[in-house]
Amino acid sequence: MLLHIPAVFTKSEVQALRQELDAADWSDGRATVGPQGAQVKRNLQLRADSALAQRLGEVVRQRVQQHPMFFAAALPLRMLPPLFNRYEGGGHYGMHVDGSVMLHSGHPQPLRSDVSSTLFLSEPDEYDGGELIVADTYGEHEVKLPAGDLIVYPASSLHSVQPVTRGARVASFFWTQSMVRDAWRRSMLFELDQSIQKLRTRLGDDDDVKSLTHHYHNLLRAWAET
Ligand code: NI
Repeated sequence: MLLHIPAVFTKSEVQALRQELDAADWSDGRATVGPQGAQVKRNLQLRADSALAQRLGEVVRQRVQQHPMFFAAALPLRMLPPLFNRYEGGGHYGMHVDGSVMLHSGHPQPLRSDVSSTLFLSEPDEYDGGELIVADTYGEHEVKLPAGDLIVYPASSLHSVQPVTRGARVASFFWTQSMVRDAWRRSMLFELDQSIQKLRTRLGDDDDVKSLTHHYHNLLRAWAET
């Protein structure tokens, strides 16, 4: 399931983030991947241990974790601190799969990457190319969203970023370990949750809405690992 969550940050919030990011010291993104990734990755990243990356990453983390749609879709158990990347001058990231188990210096436990997320921080008309391509069993999906919007997709997908041939594509990205590791179960729970929310808006908390909510929680209880 690819989920587009619009307006996680307002345009003025994006502008404030961009002011700091555009003035930042970027380094070669190949530093954070193994030899296989290094062959296909051509971009810039903020060093994860820089004060700026940590401060802005925390801003992104807090906002995303409080977002009801992100919560319903990702069912987060743990998140790695969000990072920031920049593609320009032909920068790209060829088809690859993200590491399945990730270590981070600030976290005692390794994190299993179940859910990948990208928060777009450039408007689509600021750059040419730079589409995120996510491949799943239904084919390849092209994603290029307005600044402030988030795309959430299974970390198990093969994906790539097309070369940026004009301007710069700035984004934040992060991985989440979900309480529900199976992507299909997560997606069923999400769809059930969204239907219940719509029914509740239409019908209030009537008995059938309560019954569906009851089933939702029993499914989550059966499938959740905490
Ligand atoms: Ni990736």
